[in-house]
Formats: sequence, C-alpha cells, structure tokens
Amino acid sequence: MPNKKIIVGNWKMNPTGPSDAKHIFSKIVSTASRFKKVETVICPPSIFLPILGNNKSVKIGAQDAFYESSGPFTGFISSAMVKSFQTEYLLVGHSERRRLGETDELISKKIKAGLKQRLKIILCIGEEQSDENGIYLKLLRQQLLSGLGDIPKKYFDQIIIAHEPVWAIGSFAKEVDTPERFQHNRLFIKKVLADLAGKKFGVSVPVLYGGSVGPKNAQGFLETGEADGLLVGRSSLIPVDFVKILEIANACS
Ligand code: PGA
Repeated sequence: MPNKKIIVGNWKMNPTGPSDAKHIFSKIVSTASRFKKVETVICPPSIFLPILGNNKSVKIGAQDAFYESSGPFTGFISSAMVKSFQTEYLLVGHSERRRLGETDELISKKIKAGLKQRLKIILCIGEEQSDENGIYLKLLRQQLLSGLGDIPKKYFDQIIIAHEPVWAIGSFAKEVDTPERFQHNRLFIKKVLADLAGKKFGVSVPVLYGGSVGPKNAQGFLETGEADGLLVGRSSLIPVDFVKILEIANACS
C-alpha cells in the first residue's frame, strides 16, 4: 500500500437524496486532485454507489456488504455487487453495526468475502467505554484476532484498521480522545498484528483514527498520533471541512 495518508469519509445514512450526494461528492472531487499525497475515499450509502463511481482522485467504498455473493437474503447486498460499481474499499465492523448485533463471527465472514473480491477492507474496532487502566486493550485484541485470525497471507496488503473509540464518536460523544492516547493504541494494534502474522504485517498495516475528527484536531492525530489516516463521519458531509482535512493530511504526508 502506498505511503499516503488515507482519509476516509463515512457518510453513514446521509444525505437523503441523490442530488445532495452528487453535490457533496463533486465538491470534494474538484479539490481532492490537488492533494497527491492523500488517498481519498468516500463511503456513501450503497444506493449512491452507481451514481458516484470511482474517479482518479477520490475512491469509493461501501459501508457494509453481506458475506454471501447472491441468494435468498432479503435486503442485503454482497461484496460482489458493490465491487461491480468500481468500489475499492469496504468498511466492516463499524460500531454502529456492532451495536445492532453484528458479531465478530459475522464480521470475520464479511471480511473474507470482501477480500475475495479484492476489496480493501477497513476493519473498525473500538471500545464502548474509556478506561485509564487499559482493560479495553483486551477487547481490541479480541476484535482484531477474531476478524483477521485466519485470513491467508496473500490478503494482508488489503487490510486497514480503523480504531474508533465508541465514546468519542458522533455528536453524542462523551469525551474527546487525544493524539497521545491514539499513538499508544496504534502501537498496540500493530504489535497484536505482528504477533499474529509476522513483523512485516505489523509494520506495514495502516492504522487510522476515527472519532469526531474535524479540521481542528486532524493535524494532532496525524502528526503527534502518527495516524496513517483518518476515518471521518460528520465532517465528511461538509465539503469545506473535509477538503481542509485533506489539505492537512497532504501537508503531513
Ligand atoms: P464522527 O464519526 O466523525 O461523526 O465522530 C466517525 C465514524 O463513526 O466513522
């Protein structure tokens, strides 16, 4: 994977219609080409994938995909389907889905199905509560091992991790995370993956930070926190904010 900062916009269940989606996307596309040292990815609701499409300066990702490729699974879409719209990335295991009952077992199956389609997987991990004693690290390890424990080595370069502490995500965030804490968590994640699959994987795997990132705190997470990129929710729907984050990431690369 290139040594660019990876900036991913997760639009979640927004915006409500195709014209807004096209408008936000085109604003981002028109400036993203200036930032050569950034890999820019937008993950819209899947219904908008066909109208946005991959483009040279902004890649497209899906927010979720089921593990079967087709069949009697009402309401689901598969990795094969999203791939057919030039999608390059797939978010898996976002806390908002885990909260609705998505298990580690299901997440692991979705990862494998996405990898087979040659999608780059952004595995989201994160703890519900902040704690100063590091008890949450056990949970992070478990989420990593159950998600990636048995994937073949040939897929390692398709893996990206996003650490998103649930308590720091969204407008109801209870607390603000710090770059220093992320720097520690990033090293922990890399160590777990090195122990699992070898030093090379641990060193090379990109670890992104997510949790209320905006133009004001992006630099801290990228520089002090040494994040390999950012997973951005709300600010990715505001083109001027998202473009500012891209500009900061470009300067930090
Ligand atoms: P936020 O969302 O930036 O709005 O906190 C991040 C995420 O959940 O991916």
